[in-house]
Formats: sequence, structure tokens, C-alpha cells
Amino acid sequence: MQPDVLITNIGELLTLSPLAMEKRANHVKQADLGILKNAWMKIKGGKIASHGTGTPPELAHGGILCDANGGLVMPGLVDCHTHPVFAGSRAKEFCMRLEGKTYQEIAEAGGGIKNSMTATRAASEQELLAGTTSRLGIFLRHGVTSVEVKSGYGLSVESELKQLRVLRAAAKKSPQHLTVTCLALHAVPPEFKSAASWATEAAEKLLPEVAREHLADCVDAFIENGYFSAGDARPFLDAAKKLGLRIRLHADEFSESGCARLAAEYGAESADHLQFASDSGTAAMGKAGVCAVLLPGTSVYSGIPYTNSRKFVEAGCVVAVATDFNPGSCVADNLPMIATLAALHCKLKPAEAIAAVTYAAAYALRIHDRKGALHAGFDADFIVHQMESHESWLADLGRHVPQQVWIKGQRII
Ligand code: NIG
Ligand code: FE
Repeated sequence: MQPDVLITNIGELLTLSPLAMEKRANHVKQADLGILKNAWMKIKGGKIASHGTGTPPELAHGGILCDANGGLVMPGLVDCHTHPVFAGSRAKEFCMRLEGKTYQEIAEAGGGIKNSMTATRAASEQELLAGTTSRLGIFLRHGVTSVEVKSGYGLSVESELKQLRVLRAAAKKSPQHLTVTCLALHAVPPEFKSAASWATEAAEKLLPEVAREHLADCVDAFIENGYFSAGDARPFLDAAKKLGLRIRLHADEFSESGCARLAAEYGAESADHLQFASDSGTAAMGKAGVCAVLLPGTSVYSGIPYTNSRKFVEAGCVVAVATDFNPGSCVADNLPMIATLAALHCKLKPAEAIAAVTYAAAYALRIHDRKGALHAGFDADFIVHQMESHESWLADLGRHVPQQVWIKGQRII
């Protein structure tokens, strides 16, 4: 039995309980942050039991008392789009971009995703696991307690399975909750003549094995000129659906590729990037309940436009924000910094930006029945900052790491 925990002397507690109560993550308003001032929070069996203001309740004998020092307590952050399992470095390509080459020109010259593929194929499971675990540790240091992690640098049946096995091992080693996604359609492997032929191979040979070994929760595809068209991806998405694997998509990042509409048609959990999503695709996403995941780190690091959140908010979409941490288009691993950049450049309101990396991000991963809010019955995943308020947190640009990180009622940092 885990001892009870009582956190006292909380200057500001962000519960996000109004959202958790309604199981709603769209149309987020300031009141949805469920802010309590001068608060306490009680944890039983690793879950939130209660919270309130004023005099805290008694703590049973053997319980753990923790003083938050008048600081800010908020839900553990949820990074709902990352690519942390890879080998090698793409620093040279970064400098090629500084010299004026575009991401797509570098890819066409044999760099980009295929460069990481070559290094990842050559790496042992042990090497990949060490790199992945260390990256998850950095996410944790920024307060991230749940993470979506993608494969996609293997690009053969065997190497994709290797990456997914590494992610399964990482999930056992790391304290965080991981949602694993098989991003087999990340680029066309050199062994295949066409995008369609690799998509078919992945549908027929890879996905059944992924499902049989329970190696992933979701699948993903990069729908873009030079990568996969909506049509190329269909056999893969159809196979995923049949096997009970959920769908997320890299959508309309460099050009309008009909991916927002495709996401709606397939009932994808999220469509991510979305700079060039069409108005009809956006409306279809809102109707179908597809979450819009904004990745402003990619815009900073790769010099592409920012996604404007307002049209997704207005269409009724749940809007989440993630790092898109990867070796090529965005090496940012600081989700609080990305949340502030999203507020600034993707035009999110303060409450929207905070929900975007907590409850809305949990919603995007469909773990919002237990993650992303400090609501009775939810996992006690939370962070403690020596800061006055959520305003200080947003204005900080991720400079300060949390003083404490708790997962399921256990203090990890
Ligand atoms: O999400 N857009 C495609 N995939 C990644 C980039 C991966 C890479 O360049 O290695 C992304 O930005
Ligand atoms: Fe990505």
C-alpha cells in the first residue's frame, strides 16, 4: 500500500477539474483552469483524493507531508508528439539550412529522415535504448510525465519492430506513461520503388506483427509531397483500423495535402502540424473530433510558417501543443518553452496554452480519463514550481525546471 500524501502551502493550484468533470478539452476558457489559491491536495493510492483551500485535512499516521512553499502546483505535462528513438546526428544538415538549403532540398539530396534511418538501422537495441531513456529523462526534467513516442527511423519491417521493441523496453524503465506510435510511413525506404509499395508492405507484413506483439497503440503517416499521398496511405490506415491500432497523422505541414480531411474520414485521434490545412479540412476535423496538435518548435527550428490556432479553436477542435522533438526538424525538448512559443506565435490564449500541454494533450492521446488534470480519481502526476502563478510559468519561456516532479503519487524529482 502506498502511503497517503498531503501537499500543503500551495500558492496556486491548477486543477483543470472543470474540463475533467465535463470530459471536454475544446473551447477552453480561463475558468477551466480550476485555480485554487492557498490550497492543499491529498493523494491516496497514487491518485488525487481531494483538494481545497484553507486549513488542510489531517494526515493519517505514516503519511507523507510535503510543503509546496507557497509555489505553483500543476498537472504533469503531456508531450503528445515526439520522435525520441534514433541514432546519429543531423547537425551538418542544420548548417546546410543556414547556408540556404531547405528541409526538402536536403531530403532530396539523401539527408533528412533517411540519414537518421541509416544510423538507426545500424544501431543496436541497447544503443537505441540508452539514447531514448536519456531523452525521456530530459523530458521528465522539464516536467513531462506522459509522452507519445514514435518509431519511423527504421523504415523496414525488421527495423521498425526493433524501434518499437526499444520503446517497449523504455516504457518499462522510465517512470513516465508512454503512448507508442508506429510511424512506418515516415519516408519511402530506398529499397522500395514507390510510396504505395512500402505502404502495402507495412500494412501486410509490419502491422500484423505490431498488433500480435502489442508493440504500439497507434500508427502515423507523413502525408506530404515527396513522402506519402492520402491515397498511398489508405491500405496502411485500413489495416491499422482492422487491427485496432488508433490513427494520428503528420498533416499539411509544407503544403495542403488533403490530410486534415483524411484525418476526419478515418476518425484519427489527432492531425499534427497543420500549417496548410484547408478550411473544409479544418471544419471536417472539428465535426469528427480530430484533435489539432500544433508543433511550433518545427517552425522555429526549420523556418516554416506557424500554424494559426484560431481556426481550429473556432472549428471546435481540441488544440494541443507538443515539442515534435526529433533529430532533424526540431531538436527542442523543453515543452514549457514550446507552450510559450505556441501562445505567442500560434495565437493561443493563456488558458488554452496551459491546457494544450496538459488536459488537451492527454485528450489527444485519449488518456484524459486519468492524466492531464488534478481531479479526484486521476493519477497524481504533478509538478511543483517555485513560482507565483500560471502567469509566471507562461512568461518564463521554460527557463526554470520544476522543483518537484511526482508520478502516480511518488516523488520522482
Ligand atoms: O514531425 N514531418 C515529418 N517528420 C518529422 C521530421 C523528422 C525528421 O526530420 O527526422 C516532423 O517534423
Ligand atoms: Fe513529427
